[in-house]
Amino acid sequence: MSARDEGLIGRRVLVTGGSGFIGRHVVARLSAAGAQVRVVDLVPHPDPEVDLVCGDIADPETIEAAYEGGIDHVVHLAAVTSVLKSVQQPELTFQTNVVGTHRVLEGARAAGVSALVFASTNAVTGPMEEAKITERARLRPLTPYGSSKAAGEMMMSAYTAAYGVRCTAIRLTNVYGLGMQAKDSIVARLMRAIRLGSGFEIYGDGLQVRDYVHVNDVVRAACAALADERWSGPVVIGYGESISVLDVVDEVRRVSGTTLELTHGPARAGEMPAVIVDPSGAHALGWRPELDFHAGVSGVWQEWSALALDAPAFQAAVPPAATVAGR
Ligand SMILES: NC(=O)c1ccc[n+]([C@@H]2O[C@H](COP(=O)([O-])OP(=O)(O)OC[C@H]3O[C@@H](n4cnc5c(N)ncnc54)[C@H](O)[C@@H]3O)[C@@H](O)[C@H]2O)c1
Repeated sequence: MSARDEGLIGRRVLVTGGSGFIGRHVVARLSAAGAQVRVVDLVPHPDPEVDLVCGDIADPETIEAAYEGGIDHVVHLAAVTSVLKSVQQPELTFQTNVVGTHRVLEGARAAGVSALVFASTNAVTGPMEEAKITERARLRPLTPYGSSKAAGEMMMSAYTAAYGVRCTAIRLTNVYGLGMQAKDSIVARLMRAIRLGSGFEIYGDGLQVRDYVHVNDVVRAACAALADERWSGPVVIGYGESISVLDVVDEVRRVSGTTLELTHGPARAGEMPAVIVDPSGAHALGWRPELDFHAGVSGVWQEWSALALDAPAFQAAVPPAATVAGR
Protein backbone atom coordinates (compact mmCIF):
# COMPACT_ATOMS: atom_id res chain seq x y z
CA MET A 1 0.00 0.00 0.00
CA SER A 2 1.37 3.43 -0.89
CA ALA A 3 1.64 6.27 1.58
CA ARG A 4 -1.18 8.08 -0.21
CA ASP A 5 -3.59 5.20 0.26
CA GLU A 6 -3.10 5.36 4.02
CA GLY A 7 -5.55 8.25 4.12
CA LEU A 8 -8.23 5.86 2.84
CA ILE A 9 -8.24 3.41 5.74
CA GLY A 10 -11.75 3.30 7.22
CA ARG A 11 -13.07 5.87 4.75
CA ARG A 12 -16.58 5.16 3.46
CA VAL A 13 -16.29 5.38 -0.31
CA LEU A 14 -19.19 5.24 -2.77
CA VAL A 15 -18.19 3.98 -6.23
CA THR A 16 -20.83 4.69 -8.88
CA GLY A 17 -20.47 2.33 -11.83
CA GLY A 18 -18.41 0.06 -9.58
CA SER A 19 -19.50 -3.07 -11.47
CA GLY A 20 -17.96 -1.82 -14.73
CA PHE A 21 -14.49 -2.22 -16.22
CA ILE A 22 -12.69 0.59 -14.37
CA GLY A 23 -15.04 0.36 -11.38
CA ARG A 24 -14.11 -3.23 -10.51
CA HIS A 25 -10.44 -2.23 -10.40
CA VAL A 26 -11.25 0.83 -8.25
CA VAL A 27 -13.30 -1.28 -5.83
CA ALA A 28 -10.50 -3.83 -5.49
CA ARG A 29 -7.87 -1.17 -4.92
CA LEU A 30 -9.92 0.82 -2.38
CA SER A 31 -10.82 -2.33 -0.46
CA ALA A 32 -7.14 -3.33 -0.38
CA ALA A 33 -6.32 0.16 0.94
CA GLY A 34 -8.68 -0.39 3.87
CA ALA A 35 -11.66 1.69 2.69
CA GLN A 36 -15.30 0.67 3.30
CA VAL A 37 -16.62 0.48 -0.24
CA ARG A 38 -20.20 0.69 -1.49
CA VAL A 39 -21.14 0.33 -5.15
CA VAL A 40 -24.15 1.83 -6.90
CA ASP A 41 -24.73 0.36 -10.34
CA LEU A 42 -27.48 -0.84 -12.66
CA VAL A 43 -25.95 -4.31 -12.61
CA PRO A 44 -24.57 -6.46 -9.77
CA HIS A 45 -20.88 -6.56 -8.93
CA PRO A 46 -19.33 -9.96 -9.72
CA ASP A 47 -18.29 -10.29 -6.06
CA PRO A 48 -21.48 -10.90 -4.04
CA GLU A 49 -19.67 -9.74 -0.88
CA VAL A 50 -19.50 -6.17 -2.21
CA ASP A 51 -21.99 -3.74 -0.58
CA LEU A 52 -24.26 -2.95 -3.54
CA VAL A 53 -27.14 -0.57 -4.21
CA CYS A 54 -28.61 -1.78 -7.47
CA GLY A 55 -30.31 1.04 -9.39
CA ASP A 56 -30.11 4.07 -11.64
CA ILE A 57 -28.11 7.09 -10.46
CA ALA A 58 -30.73 9.34 -12.10
CA ASP A 59 -33.32 7.92 -9.64
CA PRO A 60 -33.46 9.94 -6.36
CA GLU A 61 -34.41 6.87 -4.29
CA THR A 62 -31.37 5.00 -5.53
CA ILE A 63 -29.19 7.95 -4.57
CA GLU A 64 -30.78 8.13 -1.12
CA ALA A 65 -30.00 4.45 -0.56
CA ALA A 66 -26.46 4.91 -1.89
CA TYR A 67 -25.66 7.61 0.69
CA GLU A 68 -27.55 6.04 3.58
CA GLY A 69 -25.46 5.77 6.74
CA GLY A 70 -22.90 8.32 5.55
CA ILE A 71 -20.25 8.52 2.83
CA ASP A 72 -16.87 10.30 3.03
CA HIS A 73 -15.64 10.08 -0.58
CA VAL A 74 -17.14 9.33 -4.01
CA VAL A 75 -15.63 7.89 -7.18
CA HIS A 76 -18.17 8.72 -9.87
CA LEU A 77 -17.81 6.38 -12.86
CA ALA A 78 -21.40 5.43 -13.78
CA ALA A 79 -22.22 6.73 -17.24
CA VAL A 80 -23.24 6.01 -20.78
CA THR A 81 -19.64 5.37 -21.79
CA SER A 82 -19.84 4.68 -25.51
CA VAL A 83 -19.35 7.64 -27.81
CA LEU A 84 -21.30 5.94 -30.59
CA LYS A 85 -24.17 5.03 -28.25
CA SER A 86 -24.32 8.64 -27.10
CA VAL A 87 -24.79 9.77 -30.70
CA GLN A 88 -27.61 7.24 -31.12
CA GLN A 89 -29.20 7.90 -27.70
CA PRO A 90 -28.62 11.54 -26.69
CA GLU A 91 -31.59 11.57 -24.28
CA LEU A 92 -30.39 8.54 -22.30
CA THR A 93 -26.90 10.06 -22.30
CA PHE A 94 -28.22 13.33 -20.86
CA GLN A 95 -30.32 11.54 -18.22
CA THR A 96 -27.47 9.35 -17.04
CA ASN A 97 -24.43 11.56 -17.50
CA VAL A 98 -25.92 14.96 -16.66
CA VAL A 99 -29.03 14.38 -14.50
CA GLY A 100 -27.41 11.35 -12.86
CA THR A 101 -24.22 13.31 -12.14
CA HIS A 102 -26.28 16.12 -10.64
CA ARG A 103 -28.02 13.62 -8.33
CA VAL A 104 -24.67 12.13 -7.28
CA LEU A 105 -23.41 15.64 -6.47
CA GLU A 106 -26.56 16.54 -4.55
CA GLY A 107 -26.19 13.37 -2.50
CA ALA A 108 -22.54 14.27 -1.88
CA ARG A 109 -23.47 17.77 -0.72
CA ALA A 110 -26.12 16.47 1.66
CA ALA A 111 -23.76 13.82 3.06
CA GLY A 112 -20.90 16.28 3.57
CA VAL A 113 -18.60 14.36 1.22
CA SER A 114 -15.09 15.82 1.34
CA ALA A 115 -13.68 14.52 -1.97
CA LEU A 116 -15.21 13.30 -5.22
CA VAL A 117 -13.43 11.98 -8.30
CA PHE A 118 -15.25 12.15 -11.62
CA ALA A 119 -14.23 10.10 -14.65
CA SER A 120 -14.16 12.65 -17.43
CA THR A 121 -12.55 12.45 -20.83
CA ASN A 122 -10.28 14.40 -23.12
CA ALA A 123 -13.21 14.31 -25.57
CA VAL A 124 -14.57 17.36 -23.71
CA THR A 125 -12.10 19.42 -25.72
CA GLY A 126 -12.89 18.42 -29.32
CA PRO A 127 -10.51 19.16 -32.20
CA MET A 128 -6.99 19.97 -31.06
CA GLU A 129 -6.09 23.65 -31.24
CA GLU A 130 -2.59 23.33 -29.74
CA ALA A 131 0.16 20.72 -30.15
CA LYS A 132 -1.10 18.91 -27.03
CA ILE A 133 -4.30 18.87 -24.98
CA THR A 134 -3.84 20.35 -21.52
CA GLU A 135 -6.32 21.26 -18.78
CA ARG A 136 -6.45 24.74 -20.31
CA ALA A 137 -7.78 23.63 -23.73
CA ARG A 138 -11.09 25.13 -24.82
CA LEU A 139 -14.14 22.90 -24.24
CA ARG A 140 -15.66 22.16 -27.64
CA PRO A 141 -17.09 18.61 -27.47
CA LEU A 142 -18.12 16.92 -30.72
CA THR A 143 -20.59 14.34 -29.39
CA PRO A 144 -23.36 14.03 -26.77
CA TYR A 145 -20.89 11.94 -24.74
CA GLY A 146 -18.28 14.72 -24.75
CA SER A 147 -20.82 17.42 -24.00
CA SER A 148 -22.35 15.45 -21.11
CA LYS A 149 -18.90 15.04 -19.55
CA ALA A 150 -18.19 18.76 -20.06
CA ALA A 151 -21.49 19.52 -18.29
CA GLY A 152 -20.42 17.20 -15.47
CA GLU A 153 -17.15 19.09 -15.11
CA MET A 154 -19.01 22.41 -14.88
CA MET A 155 -21.19 21.04 -12.08
CA MET A 156 -18.07 19.73 -10.31
CA SER A 157 -16.60 23.23 -10.44
CA ALA A 158 -19.73 24.70 -8.87
CA TYR A 159 -19.99 22.10 -6.10
CA THR A 160 -16.31 22.59 -5.23
CA ALA A 161 -16.70 26.36 -5.02
CA ALA A 162 -20.19 26.64 -3.51
CA TYR A 163 -20.33 23.62 -1.18
CA GLY A 164 -16.74 22.60 -0.47
CA VAL A 165 -17.06 19.16 -2.07
CA ARG A 166 -13.53 18.97 -3.51
CA CYS A 167 -14.12 17.55 -6.99
CA THR A 168 -11.42 16.32 -9.36
CA ALA A 169 -12.31 15.52 -12.97
CA ILE A 170 -9.73 13.05 -14.22
CA ARG A 171 -9.77 13.47 -18.00
CA LEU A 172 -8.94 9.96 -19.17
CA THR A 173 -7.61 8.95 -22.56
CA ASN A 174 -8.34 5.42 -23.91
CA VAL A 175 -8.25 3.09 -20.91
CA TYR A 176 -7.28 -0.56 -21.38
CA GLY A 177 -6.28 -3.42 -19.10
CA LEU A 178 -7.42 -6.67 -17.56
CA GLY A 179 -11.15 -7.34 -17.32
CA MET A 180 -12.25 -5.37 -20.39
CA GLN A 181 -14.13 -8.25 -22.02
CA ALA A 182 -17.44 -6.34 -22.11
CA LYS A 183 -15.89 -3.26 -23.73
CA ASP A 184 -16.11 -2.25 -27.37
CA SER A 185 -12.98 -0.10 -27.44
CA ILE A 186 -10.17 -0.90 -29.85
CA VAL A 187 -7.99 -3.12 -27.64
CA ALA A 188 -10.94 -5.35 -26.68
CA ARG A 189 -12.15 -5.50 -30.28
CA LEU A 190 -8.73 -6.50 -31.52
CA MET A 191 -8.45 -9.24 -28.89
CA ARG A 192 -11.88 -10.53 -29.82
CA ALA A 193 -11.11 -10.46 -33.54
CA ILE A 194 -7.88 -12.42 -33.08
CA ARG A 195 -9.49 -15.07 -30.90
CA LEU A 196 -12.45 -15.45 -33.27
CA GLY A 197 -10.21 -15.39 -36.34
CA SER A 198 -12.32 -12.64 -37.87
CA GLY A 199 -11.00 -9.61 -39.74
CA PHE A 200 -10.82 -6.15 -38.25
CA GLU A 201 -12.36 -3.05 -39.77
CA ILE A 202 -10.69 0.30 -39.21
CA TYR A 203 -12.70 3.46 -39.69
CA GLY A 204 -10.73 5.68 -42.05
CA ASP A 205 -7.03 5.29 -42.82
CA GLY A 206 -5.92 4.17 -39.32
CA LEU A 207 -3.47 7.05 -39.00
CA GLN A 208 -5.55 8.80 -36.33
CA VAL A 209 -3.50 8.92 -33.15
CA ARG A 210 -4.68 8.16 -29.63
CA ASP A 211 -3.19 7.94 -26.14
CA TYR A 212 -3.65 4.64 -24.25
CA VAL A 213 -3.45 4.53 -20.46
CA HIS A 214 -3.50 1.34 -18.39
CA VAL A 215 -6.37 0.88 -15.94
CA ASN A 216 -3.93 0.29 -13.04
CA ASP A 217 -2.50 3.75 -13.63
CA VAL A 218 -6.01 5.24 -13.78
CA VAL A 219 -6.88 3.64 -10.44
CA ARG A 220 -3.74 5.11 -8.86
CA ALA A 221 -4.80 8.55 -10.12
CA ALA A 222 -8.31 8.14 -8.68
CA CYS A 223 -6.98 7.11 -5.26
CA ALA A 224 -4.48 9.98 -5.24
CA ALA A 225 -7.25 12.45 -6.12
CA LEU A 226 -9.35 11.24 -3.17
CA ALA A 227 -6.56 11.35 -0.64
CA ASP A 228 -4.46 14.34 -1.71
CA GLU A 229 -6.01 17.77 -1.25
CA ARG A 230 -3.91 19.31 -4.01
CA TRP A 231 -6.06 17.47 -6.59
CA SER A 232 -9.04 19.59 -7.69
CA GLY A 233 -10.62 20.56 -11.02
CA PRO A 234 -9.68 18.94 -14.34
CA VAL A 235 -6.51 16.80 -14.48
CA VAL A 236 -5.39 15.16 -17.73
CA ILE A 237 -4.61 11.47 -17.16
CA GLY A 238 -2.92 9.76 -20.10
CA TYR A 239 0.29 7.93 -20.93
CA GLY A 240 1.63 11.05 -22.61
CA GLU A 241 2.59 9.50 -25.97
CA SER A 242 0.13 8.90 -28.75
CA ILE A 243 0.22 6.10 -31.29
CA SER A 244 -1.83 5.46 -34.43
CA VAL A 245 -4.53 2.83 -34.77
CA LEU A 246 -2.20 1.00 -37.19
CA ASP A 247 0.52 1.02 -34.47
CA VAL A 248 -1.96 -0.47 -32.00
CA VAL A 249 -2.79 -3.23 -34.48
CA ASP A 250 0.93 -3.94 -35.01
CA GLU A 251 1.60 -4.13 -31.26
CA VAL A 252 -1.33 -6.49 -30.72
CA ARG A 253 -0.13 -8.64 -33.62
CA ARG A 254 3.35 -8.71 -32.04
CA VAL A 255 2.30 -9.68 -28.52
CA SER A 256 -0.17 -12.29 -29.77
CA GLY A 257 2.14 -13.66 -32.48
CA THR A 258 -0.78 -13.66 -34.90
CA THR A 259 -1.68 -11.98 -38.15
CA LEU A 260 -4.92 -10.09 -38.43
CA GLU A 261 -6.59 -9.12 -41.66
CA LEU A 262 -7.50 -5.43 -41.86
CA THR A 263 -10.17 -3.72 -43.90
CA HIS A 264 -10.83 0.01 -44.03
CA GLY A 265 -14.34 1.45 -43.65
CA PRO A 266 -15.43 5.07 -43.90
CA ALA A 267 -14.29 7.49 -41.20
CA ARG A 268 -16.92 8.19 -38.52
CA ALA A 269 -18.54 11.58 -37.91
CA GLY A 270 -17.58 13.06 -34.55
CA GLU A 271 -14.34 11.12 -34.31
CA MET A 272 -11.48 13.25 -33.04
CA PRO A 273 -8.75 13.28 -35.70
CA ALA A 274 -6.01 13.23 -33.06
CA VAL A 275 -5.72 12.93 -29.29
CA ILE A 276 -2.31 13.98 -27.99
CA VAL A 277 -2.31 14.89 -24.32
CA ASP A 278 0.11 16.58 -21.98
CA PRO A 279 -0.23 14.96 -18.53
CA SER A 280 2.41 17.23 -16.94
CA GLY A 281 -0.24 18.67 -14.59
CA ALA A 282 -0.70 15.19 -13.10
CA HIS A 283 3.07 14.66 -13.01
CA ALA A 284 3.37 17.82 -10.91
CA LEU A 285 0.89 16.25 -8.48
CA GLY A 286 3.07 13.15 -8.18
CA TRP A 287 1.24 10.82 -10.61
CA ARG A 288 3.06 9.11 -13.46
CA PRO A 289 2.02 6.13 -15.59
CA GLU A 290 3.90 2.94 -14.75
CA LEU A 291 2.86 0.70 -17.65
CA ASP A 292 3.75 1.39 -21.27
CA PHE A 293 1.56 0.06 -24.06
CA HIS A 294 3.75 -2.95 -24.88
CA ALA A 295 3.84 -4.20 -21.28
CA GLY A 296 0.18 -3.39 -20.68
CA VAL A 297 -1.18 -5.00 -23.80
CA SER A 298 0.96 -8.12 -23.29
CA GLY A 299 -0.91 -8.72 -20.04
CA VAL A 300 -4.23 -8.11 -21.75
CA TRP A 301 -3.40 -10.67 -24.45
CA GLN A 302 -2.39 -13.25 -21.82
CA GLU A 303 -5.81 -12.86 -20.23
CA TRP A 304 -7.74 -13.06 -23.51
CA SER A 305 -5.71 -15.96 -24.87
CA ALA A 306 -6.72 -18.06 -21.84
CA LEU A 307 -10.48 -17.45 -22.30
CA ALA A 308 -12.69 -20.24 -23.61
CA LEU A 309 -14.35 -19.35 -26.89
CA ASP A 310 -17.80 -19.86 -25.34
CA ALA A 311 -17.05 -17.11 -22.75
CA PRO A 312 -19.45 -14.11 -22.71
CA ALA A 313 -16.70 -11.95 -24.27
CA PHE A 314 -17.24 -13.75 -27.55
CA GLN A 315 -21.03 -13.93 -27.56
CA ALA A 316 -23.61 -11.75 -29.36
CA ALA A 317 -24.37 -8.17 -28.34
CA VAL A 318 -20.78 -7.34 -29.06
CA PRO A 319 -20.70 -4.62 -31.70
CA PRO A 320 -18.77 -5.12 -34.96
CA ALA A 321 -15.02 -4.67 -34.81
CA ALA A 322 -13.92 -1.11 -35.48
CA THR A 323 -12.25 1.80 -33.82
CA VAL A 324 -14.24 4.06 -31.56
CA ALA A 325 -14.18 7.79 -31.47
CA GLY A 326 -11.36 9.31 -29.42
CA ARG A 327 -11.92 9.65 -25.74
N1 LIG B 1 -12.82 3.13 -20.59
C1 LIG B 1 -12.34 4.25 -21.14
O1 LIG B 1 -11.53 4.21 -22.07
C2 LIG B 1 -12.77 5.60 -20.60
C3 LIG B 1 -12.17 6.75 -21.14
C4 LIG B 1 -12.59 8.00 -20.66
C5 LIG B 1 -13.53 8.08 -19.66
N2 LIG B 1 -14.10 6.94 -19.17
C6 LIG B 1 -15.13 7.07 -18.16
O2 LIG B 1 -14.82 6.21 -17.07
C7 LIG B 1 -16.02 5.72 -16.48
C8 LIG B 1 -15.99 4.21 -16.37
O3 LIG B 1 -15.82 3.67 -17.65
P1 LIG B 1 -15.77 2.10 -17.92
O4 LIG B 1 -14.88 1.91 -19.09
O5 LIG B 1 -15.49 1.37 -16.68
O6 LIG B 1 -17.27 1.85 -18.38
P2 LIG B 1 -18.23 0.58 -18.14
O7 LIG B 1 -19.30 0.73 -19.14
O8 LIG B 1 -17.45 -0.68 -18.10
O9 LIG B 1 -18.80 0.85 -16.69
C9 LIG B 1 -19.82 1.78 -16.43
C10 LIG B 1 -20.69 1.23 -15.34
O10 LIG B 1 -21.72 2.20 -15.07
C11 LIG B 1 -22.94 1.52 -14.90
N3 LIG B 1 -24.03 2.43 -15.22
C12 LIG B 1 -24.37 2.92 -16.44
N4 LIG B 1 -25.46 3.71 -16.35
C13 LIG B 1 -25.82 3.71 -15.04
C14 LIG B 1 -26.87 4.33 -14.31
N5 LIG B 1 -27.77 5.09 -14.93
N6 LIG B 1 -26.95 4.12 -12.97
C15 LIG B 1 -26.04 3.32 -12.35
N7 LIG B 1 -25.03 2.70 -12.99
C16 LIG B 1 -24.91 2.89 -14.32
C17 LIG B 1 -22.86 0.35 -15.84
O11 LIG B 1 -23.79 -0.69 -15.48
C18 LIG B 1 -21.41 -0.07 -15.72
O12 LIG B 1 -21.23 -1.05 -14.72
C19 LIG B 1 -17.17 6.27 -17.33
O13 LIG B 1 -17.68 7.43 -16.73
C20 LIG B 1 -16.49 6.62 -18.64
O14 LIG B 1 -17.17 7.64 -19.33
C21 LIG B 1 -13.74 5.70 -19.62
